[in-house]
Amino acid sequence: MPIEQATISVMDRGFLFGDGVYEVVPVFGNKLLRVDEHLNRLQNSLNRISLLNPHNDEQWLEIFSALLEKNAGEDRAVYLQLSRGVYPKRDLAIKAEFPPTVFAMVLPVIPPSLEIVSAGISVITVDDFRWGACDIKSTSLVANVMLKQQAIAAEVEDAILIKNCMVSEGTASNVFIVKNNVVSTPPTGHKLLPGITRDLVIEIAKNNTILVEEREIKEVELYTADEIWMTSSTREIAPVIRLNGEAVGSGAAGEMWQRVMDLYQQYKQLLRSSNEK
Ligand code: PDD
Repeated sequence: MPIEQATISVMDRGFLFGDGVYEVVPVFGNKLLRVDEHLNRLQNSLNRISLLNPHNDEQWLEIFSALLEKNAGEDRAVYLQLSRGVYPKRDLAIKAEFPPTVFAMVLPVIPPSLEIVSAGISVITVDDFRWGACDIKSTSLVANVMLKQQAIAAEVEDAILIKNCMVSEGTASNVFIVKNNVVSTPPTGHKLLPGITRDLVIEIAKNNTILVEEREIKEVELYTADEIWMTSSTREIAPVIRLNGEAVGSGAAGEMWQRVMDLYQQYKQLLRSSNEK
């Protein structure tokens, strides 16, 4: 239905408590990028919050293709969200008899030109005061909103979150550093969202004999890194050129970024022209 006709109850637990999870799946041409991985992560998020998945993967794919058919375009993203549904009373306790609220829409994605992307972004570091379950792709995003606002107040594009002197992730992305031609990113766990773009970047780099390490990254390593990148479904691979007002590496998008970005674009091109779903 048209988005302005879609409504939910004010008693929806997504609205009352942020009691829900979501996914953003990029679409290139008519192809969903790494949809199996997105559906797996959705299942993990649902398991973590003890919410039953109302659809199997096949049913989700049917929903996505119906939506994509009705919302034509080139580069798009499917946004889907499940909340724990509508209960008659405002009560934290879970009652399994009420069905979840399921919502999905297609977001238009206007990819910025390669020129704009390669100009890079400026970021600051901020204290990651979020909870110990950041691997859940939860719709409770008020902490991320507050952290992003710190970046906006500092007149930069984004923030790198630091917990106990260690890098966790961005406000809506994962973080990579490059030092002496080795690409590193923090390991998955409760401190960050296991990004699908993160995994794809690791895979592409490894397949092209680039050294990749998944390891804890100290905040201080950011200041001596040759390159810093932030990755997400919507941002792809963004080179960070300034950190807390200082130049990162040469102060411009680095050579390793260019290499991995080219490989990532080739991967997308292959996906666009492939016949598989
Ligand atoms: N965000 N970390 C956080 C906190 C995120 O919100 C996201 C994605 C990522 C990267 O995940 P992926 O590569 O699967 O997009 C990491 C989405 C895009 C969003 O909230 O819009």
